[in-house]
Amino acid sequence: MLKLNKLSYTFGRIWALKNISFDLEKGSFLFVTGPSGAGKTTLLKLLHADLFPKGGEIIVAGYDLRKLPRYKHYLLKRKVGIVLQDFKILKNITVFDNVALPLVVSNKTKLQIQKRVRAILRSLGLYSKMFVPCAELSGGEQQRVAIARAMVINPKLLLADEPTGNLDKKLSLHLLKLFKQFNAHGTTIVLATHNEELIKRVNNAKILYLENGQIKDKNF
Ligand SMILES: Nc1ncnc2c1ncn2[C@@H]1O[C@H](COP(=O)(O)OP(=O)(O)OP(=O)(O)O)[C@@H](O)[C@H]1O
Ligand SMILES: [Mg+2]
Repeated sequence: MLKLNKLSYTFGRIWALKNISFDLEKGSFLFVTGPSGAGKTTLLKLLHADLFPKGGEIIVAGYDLRKLPRYKHYLLKRKVGIVLQDFKILKNITVFDNVALPLVVSNKTKLQIQKRVRAILRSLGLYSKMFVPCAELSGGEQQRVAIARAMVINPKLLLADEPTGNLDKKLSLHLLKLFKQFNAHGTTIVLATHNEELIKRVNNAKILYLENGQIKDKNF
């Protein structure tokens, strides 16, 4: 699912990532961990083609991202869902419309959209908020909208950046259960977190430990 070889990224003179190499098999559950500033978010954004690498090789879901032209990014984004640390949901439209957006742009029928969005909102405890504008939601609810939007496309690869950062313990564990269910159905998961407890709760989890933009440790 992923093949990274000497992947590097810089912000000006700062090396956010340096010589990152690893392969990840389809169906894996990978945690990316490490201290603040280690490069976790940068790695996830590179995997989603939201940043362009400064060096090295990066192949995601069969696409060579150094060669994939911008007008073909939609092909990648149909297969890869992302939940960003700062959500990036649209505040002025409803929960339903936010979550439906990726389906609308991929030409699904109205009926398919209704079914799929309602199902995912139900599983994330957002059904009663379906028609509420996102600006009126709590931080944890907004985070769940972002998660719903990433999951609604049934991605082959799901990238999530501190997805439980704004959630209480009960919701965090519920969410982890959903990630595990997706994983059991074949979705590859890459989850960036500081939360040791989440990591402990996934059997056979793969762990990538970053520090100062480099791989400090990995167990796969
Ligand atoms: N937009 C930016 N401009 C300049 N430097 C940046 C920018 N974004 C990140 N950096 C730098 O790149 C490095 C890696 O940042 P990144 O956000 O990937 O870390 P992180 O592991 O996700 O941290 P956190 O756990 O706090 O979310 C840090 O040194 C950070 O200061
Ligand atoms: Mg981060």
